[in-house]
Amino acid sequence: MDIKKAQFVISAPTVSLCPKDNKPEFAFIGRSNVGKSSLINMLCNHKGLAKTSATPGKTLLINHFIINNEWYLVDLPGYGYAKRSKTVQDKLDKMIRSYILQREQLCNVFVLIDIRHEQQKIDREFVDWLGASGIPFSIVFTKADKLGPVKAKGNVKQWMDALLDTWETLPPYFITSSEKKTGKDEVLNYIDEILKE
Ligand code: GTP
Ligand code: MG
Repeated sequence: MDIKKAQFVISAPTVSLCPKDNKPEFAFIGRSNVGKSSLINMLCNHKGLAKTSATPGKTLLINHFIINNEWYLVDLPGYGYAKRSKTVQDKLDKMIRSYILQREQLCNVFVLIDIRHEQQKIDREFVDWLGASGIPFSIVFTKADKLGPVKAKGNVKQWMDALLDTWETLPPYFITSSEKKTGKDEVLNYIDEILKE
């Protein structure tokens, strides 16, 4: 699939203020600075579409982008940014979780993981929560350009294998680099398959 048209629609502070036209949507979540907004821009071939920043904590609202006039990509704020006050982070966590639980047209959540790091408790807890809540999700390993291919594959295997201590089946996963445009077709084809279901 190719993205011909991508446009920003709205930044919403609550799920009730998100678009009401019932089109299918795909959301991107993960720790602050993992590369959610950059990945959306890479998938859309549109550098300034979602706002990115070298400083964590850039995205603070639920951002909808309409793709080919048919479906949405959704950029969410990051979780687990230690420099935010607990009150602010708790509010963001509540917003993210109620969006995920209440949004009926949400087809898939992409959970982004920095490929360089071993499994962090906060990511694991989030993935376990998605699984336990019955939300369809997949894993996207980001910033693959920062590692050699052997180390990257090894890290991914370790991360995925660690899920087997409590999960019987593993979610789909993708290896990406927004810098090098790696993994673009894989992620877009996966979205296309779900849209065709
Ligand atoms: P928040 O909105 O703050 O939660 O962050 P985010 O997850 O949206 O991250 P963002 O896309 O803003 O990227 C954070 C930083 O990582 C920026 O400096 C990006 O340029 C950099 N970055 C993102 N993706 C990649 C990648 O694939 N490779 C490299 N080398 N850098 C990346
Ligand atoms: Mg962002």
